[in-house]
Amino acid sequence: MIMHLLLPLFTLLILSQSMSHALPLSTQSRWIVDEEGERVKLACVNWASHLDLVVAEGLSKQPIDAIANKILEMGFNCVRLTWPIYLVTNDSLSSLTVRESFLNYGLTDYISGIQDNNPSFLDLSLITAFQAVVTSLSDNNVMVILDNHITKPGWCCSRADGNGFFGDTYFDPNLWIQGLTKMATLFKDNPNVIGMSLRNELRGPKENVNDWYRYMQKGAEAVHNANPNVLVILSGLNFDKDLSFLHNKPVSLSFKGKLVFEVHWYAFTDGSAWKDGDPNQVCARVVNNYMRTVGFLLDQGYPLFVSEWGIDMRGTNVNDNRYLNCFLTWVAEHDLDWALWTLAGSYYLREGVAGMIEYYGVLHSDWASVRNSSFLERISAIQSPLQGPSKAGIKSRQKIIFHPSTGLCIVRKSLIDVQLGKCSESNLWSYTPKKTLTTEDSYFCIKGQGSNQPIRLSIFCLGTGTRWDPISDSNLHLSTRLGGNTTLCLDVDSSNNVITTSCRCLGKDKSCDPGSQWFKIVDVGSYTVKLYGVGSRARVAEM
Ligand SMILES: *[C@@H]1O[C@H](CO)[C@@H](O)[C@H](O)[C@H]1NC(C)=O
Ligand SMILES: *[C@@H]1O[C@H](CO)[C@@H](O)[C@H](O)[C@H]1NC(C)=O
Repeated sequence: MIMHLLLPLFTLLILSQSMSHALPLSTQSRWIVDEEGERVKLACVNWASHLDLVVAEGLSKQPIDAIANKILEMGFNCVRLTWPIYLVTNDSLSSLTVRESFLNYGLTDYISGIQDNNPSFLDLSLITAFQAVVTSLSDNNVMVILDNHITKPGWCCSRADGNGFFGDTYFDPNLWIQGLTKMATLFKDNPNVIGMSLRNELRGPKENVNDWYRYMQKGAEAVHNANPNVLVILSGLNFDKDLSFLHNKPVSLSFKGKLVFEVHWYAFTDGSAWKDGDPNQVCARVVNNYMRTVGFLLDQGYPLFVSEWGIDMRGTNVNDNRYLNCFLTWVAEHDLDWALWTLAGSYYLREGVAGMIEYYGVLHSDWASVRNSSFLERISAIQSPLQGPSKAGIKSRQKIIFHPSTGLCIVRKSLIDVQLGKCSESNLWSYTPKKTLTTEDSYFCIKGQGSNQPIRLSIFCLGTGTRWDPISDSNLHLSTRLGGNTTLCLDVDSSNNVITTSCRCLGKDKSCDPGSQWFKIVDVGSYTVKLYGVGSRARVAEM
């Protein structure tokens, strides 16, 4: 018995996520996989190249390769690179040089910045410069999703900007298909371009379901014909929040294994609900809503790519902060693919303002330093895959216990002590039908010791303090009953000790932030994949 107790406590949990994958990618039920059937989790960051200047932002601040390397260093493996249709359909625009584009807006200061950091870009045409950005990302092993963000260059998106839906002033479906085809063709020989998202945030008075099917299916076929390697990513209605119409009628396409749906979710998607409401109620309501409007697609066997989300990195926006705790539990629970908004520390020109700072940007306006390193630590748990097809991964379905406000997990520290630690280094837990949280060898369980006391591991797993029930509207509090009818909740103190305290914020009090008491018991584990080598396209089977 004692020998078992001394077995290594930590199990390497994270599935192998090597830097380079066997491309192209395809879909295997709701997972995105490489040619060998291994799950590839998209942990992307958005990089804007669709604004007025039509030059990827930041090139006046840092060399392109430095930016590409910084992206990797921050734990992202892919970029959602935005572009306007005119970049490939309007010759007088696409043939402008980078220098001319800045001169047209009188932004001469940037020219010297580009001269210093990326001199080879200055006299490239806008389309060639765009290709050079993709080449640099590819050379540095960053995967690229080409996102058609808008038709006419400029900041996006409003209901009335003429770029919102098929038939709007700047949204001619034929021109759009022509643009998608050209862009797909341009990169058909670059395997690092792994996906194309067909149109950002459909919206406005003209939007309707019939035209959505009509044109999105046409666009998807056009892209697939021009480049059969790419994942074809479709966005929904109402600013990419609503794909509920797919409940009744699936998309009909001539090809298989390439279709992905995307969704956007910010705090401000729900106005100031997070700040003005009880976070437990708001989280429950908003998650339920998202499961109904988009999340059901996972059960239908499609990957879901949360292609825009993010917060004000200064950490001062209460609405954003509360949303993030809830959002992270949702992404971890379903192990979704995603793209953070955004990379940019600043824009050349946004909505008429030169040099506008982007506080949702992961980089500072120097495009070199990280705006908030604690944010990056928090999202590291969702940057690696937790589930999905893998040859090397663990086979059984186990759990980790995720704490979104730190981004850490409850991990075993010694025989009877636990602490918060990196989720990627967590041991695995079981959540039994009796609602105990036991170690993998099932000898030990997590046991509450009393108010403000650290939790411990115990071998007495039947008594008080060993059953953990999710409570509150959000179900994100884990409560346990100790002797004398005391109910306590898991919590984290200011020194990051995992303790039990009285359950907080259950009274629908909007001034109460339950964040430190929110935990999510998250599935981890993989399927074993079996390969049948049939040409280049391996078939993958779950075993
Ligand atoms: C093409 O782009 C140029 C430069 O941005 C613009 O002035 C012109 O209106 C565009 N042409 C069309 C047909 O949209
Ligand atoms: C980073 O965000 C946290 C909140 O998540 C905040 O407390 C902190 O002040 C922020 N740091 C910086 C440097 O803005």
